[in-house]
Amino acid sequence: MARLIIISNRLPITINKKDGELFYHPSAGGLATGLNSLAYDIDKIWVGWPGKTIDEDWEKTAIQKSLEDKNLIPVFLSEKEKELYYDGFSNKVIWPHFHYFTQYTTYKDEFWKSYQEVNQKFAEAVEKIILPDDIVWVHDYQLMLLPHLIRKKSPKISIGFFLHIPFPSYEVFRILPWRKEILEGVLGADQIGFHTFGYMRHFLSAVYRIVGHEHDLGKLTIQNRIVNVDVYPMGINYQKYAYPKNFIPKNETTEEEQFTKKEVQLILSIDRLDYTKGIPERIKAYAQFLETYPEYVGKITLVMIVVPSRSNVDQYQELKEEVEKLVGRLMGIYSSFNWDPILYFYRSFSFADLSSLYRIADIALITPLRDGMNLVAKEFIASKEISKKGVLILSEMAGASDELTDAIIVNPHDINDIVSALHKALNMSEEDQERRLKTMQDRMKLRTVSNWAETFIYDQMKIAEYQNKMVLTLKKGASEREKLIHHFQQAQNRLIILDYDGTLMDFKTDPKAVIPDDELMNILLNIKKDKKNKLVIISGRDKETLNEWMSPLEIDMAAEHGVWIKKGKDWKVSRNLFKSWKKKVRPVLEDLVERTPGSFIEEKDYSLAWHYRKIDKDLSEKRIREYRDVLLYLTANLDLQVLEGNKVVEIKNAGVNKGKATLNWLRQQHWDFILAIGDDHTDEDIFKVLPKNAYTIKVGIQKTIAKFNILSVQDVRELLKELNAS
Ligand code: UDP
Ligand code: G6P
Repeated sequence: MARLIIISNRLPITINKKDGELFYHPSAGGLATGLNSLAYDIDKIWVGWPGKTIDEDWEKTAIQKSLEDKNLIPVFLSEKEKELYYDGFSNKVIWPHFHYFTQYTTYKDEFWKSYQEVNQKFAEAVEKIILPDDIVWVHDYQLMLLPHLIRKKSPKISIGFFLHIPFPSYEVFRILPWRKEILEGVLGADQIGFHTFGYMRHFLSAVYRIVGHEHDLGKLTIQNRIVNVDVYPMGINYQKYAYPKNFIPKNETTEEEQFTKKEVQLILSIDRLDYTKGIPERIKAYAQFLETYPEYVGKITLVMIVVPSRSNVDQYQELKEEVEKLVGRLMGIYSSFNWDPILYFYRSFSFADLSSLYRIADIALITPLRDGMNLVAKEFIASKEISKKGVLILSEMAGASDELTDAIIVNPHDINDIVSALHKALNMSEEDQERRLKTMQDRMKLRTVSNWAETFIYDQMKIAEYQNKMVLTLKKGASEREKLIHHFQQAQNRLIILDYDGTLMDFKTDPKAVIPDDELMNILLNIKKDKKNKLVIISGRDKETLNEWMSPLEIDMAAEHGVWIKKGKDWKVSRNLFKSWKKKVRPVLEDLVERTPGSFIEEKDYSLAWHYRKIDKDLSEKRIREYRDVLLYLTANLDLQVLEGNKVVEIKNAGVNKGKATLNWLRQQHWDFILAIGDDHTDEDIFKVLPKNAYTIKVGIQKTIAKFNILSVQDVRELLKELNAS
C-alpha cells in the first residue's frame, strides 16, 4: 500500500517551551494550514522541522515519540542551522529574491553551505523511512535541493515538488550564483507544480536557458526521466470557512459581531508581517482614502491583523517599526473618543476568531506586492457563503488573482488605484457583491485544497506509470521489449537502420564535435560483425564527415538525407540532382545568419542547411516563421524542398528523403526483422516506408508515427547492447 510522504520545512505543528514544559500549536502560514486540512484518503507521513531548537537528546527522543502517533517525523535543526539555513539562505536569499526584492538578497556562502547541509539532513531523514512504493511530495523553497538528493538514494521513487512562492522571471533568477544547483535540485522530481502559469513559464525558461533542457508542452526529458511541469493553484477547505463549527445563529453574537453594531463598515487586512505583503503601502493608501473622502471619517475601520513572522531577519524587524509608526500616525490624525480609524493587532488569531472576522468584514483589502498565492483572499470569499455580502480587493501580484477575477483587482504599487478600489467597494450594490461572490465561490467549491492535492498526486502517479514504461525503453512496456529481443534472436536476415545525431550521439552546439566515441564504435562494430545483420546509417550529414567517422566499420550509409548512397564501397548520387539553385537560396540564408548571430550555414553537395543550435529557441522560432514564406516562395518553382529538422532548416532537391533512401535496402531482399531508430521528423520518412511488422523507435517523447518511444541516446545504446548480447 503506497504512502504519501509530505516533506516541508515546517511541520503543521510548532513546539514551544514554557517553564520547561513543551506545548504544541498549529503552525502559521499558507502551506501548513492548507496541507493540514488535506483529506486525501492515503496514509500520510509528514516530515519537517518542529520550529523549536531542541538540544538535549532525551528531549528529542521524547518529542519524536509524542509525534509518532500523529504520523509526524521531526527533523531537528541546531541554532546554527536555523540561523544559516532558515533565517539565512531560505529567508535572506530565496524568499526576497523570488519575490523580486533583490535589494534584500544576501550573498553569503555560509548560508548556501548550510542550505545544502540541511537539505541533506532532510534527505537522510527520508531515507530512513522510505519504502519502494511510497509517493514523495516535497514542498517549497526551503527544500529545493531535496528532490535530487532523494533521487540519488532512491532512483525509482516517485517524487513531486511544489513551489508555494512565485518563481521569478529568468532575468531575476539568473542573478543568483547558485541558480544551476537550485534548478538541478528541483529537477530531481518527476513532477513540479506551481500556483500560476506565469511561475511555470518563468521556471521553464530558466531551465532552458540555464541547464539547457527544452520542454515539450511542459514535459522535460532529463537523462532517462520525464519530468512533468504544470500549474496547480492551491485551494482551501471551503466548507470549513463557509460553515465553521463556531458558527453562531443570528440572535447570538460574538464579541466581534457586536462590534459591527456600531455601524461602521469593516475593512479587513490579514497577513504575516512580511515586506512582500505591502502593509505600509496599504496603510498609506487607507490614509489617503480618508483624506480624499473625509465623509468616511467615523464610518469605516480598518482591522489590521499582522501575524509575527521571521523576527530574526533584519528587514522584518524594521518593517514592524515602520508599520507601527504609520499606524500611530494615522491614529494620531484621525482617532476620536468614539471612533478608531484602525484596529491594529500584532499577534496571531485562532481559527474561530479569524472566521468570525471574515464573516463580519465588509471588505477584505489584500494588496501584497508579491504573493505566491494568498489563501486569506480565498478564505474571505468562502466565509461569505451564507451572508452573500462582501467585497474583495485583491492585488494583481497575488497568485490568487488569476482565479479570483471577480475581485476588484488593483496594482498594489499604485496608491491611487487602491483608493479608487476602496471607494468602489464601499459603494458596490448588494446585487453586484452577490454576483461577484457567487462566481468566485462556485470555482472555489470545486477547486478545494483536497482537490488540489488529489490532482497533483494523480498526475504524479500518471507520470510515474508513463515513466516506468519509458524507462524500460519502449513505450509499450517490458513485454514489448522482450518480444523485440525474442524476434531479433529468431531472425536470420535483419535490417537495422539508425540515424546518427540525436539517436546514437547527443547534440552539441558544434556539430563537428559530435565525433563517435569508443562505446558507440564498439556497439556498431558488434552489430556489423554478426552476419545475420545488415547495418545502415541514414543521416543528414555530408558524406565526407560520415566517411571520416564511420569508414573503419565498412558499413552501408546514406548521407545528406539520401542524396548519397553507399552500398558496399562506393558512394552514388541517388538520381539526377542539380545544384544551380544554390546561388539563389544562399543570399537568403546569409541574410538569416547576419540577423541571427550564432547561427551558421552548412553547405553540402546538393543542399544548404541553416543551423541554429546556439540560438535562443524563441528567437529561432521567430526567424523560421519570418523566412519560411520567403524560402517556400523561392523553392516552389525549383523542385526543391524545405526540411525542418532538429535545430536545422535544410533546403534540398525535392523527392530526396530518408524514406526513399531506405528503399535501397528495404527492396534488396526479404528481411525477417527490421529495426529503425531516429529522433527528428526527417526520420519519420523512414518509419513511413517500413512494413507494419518493423520495429520503429523514436528517440524522445514528441509525436511520432513510430511504434515506440525511447527516452535518450543512452537508452538507444543500452538497447543495441542488449541485442548484441542476445
Ligand atoms: N492565519 C492563521 N492565523 C492568523 C492569521 C492567518 O492561521 O492569525 C492563516 C490564514 O488563515 C491562512 C494562512 O495563515 O490560511 C496565511 O496564508 P497566506 O497564503 O495568505 O499567506 P502566507 O503566510 O502563506 O504568506
Ligand atoms: C509561506 C511559505 C511557507 C512558510 C510560511 C510561513 O507560506 O510559502 O513555506 O511555511 O510562509 O513562514 P515560516 O517562515 O514561518 O515557516
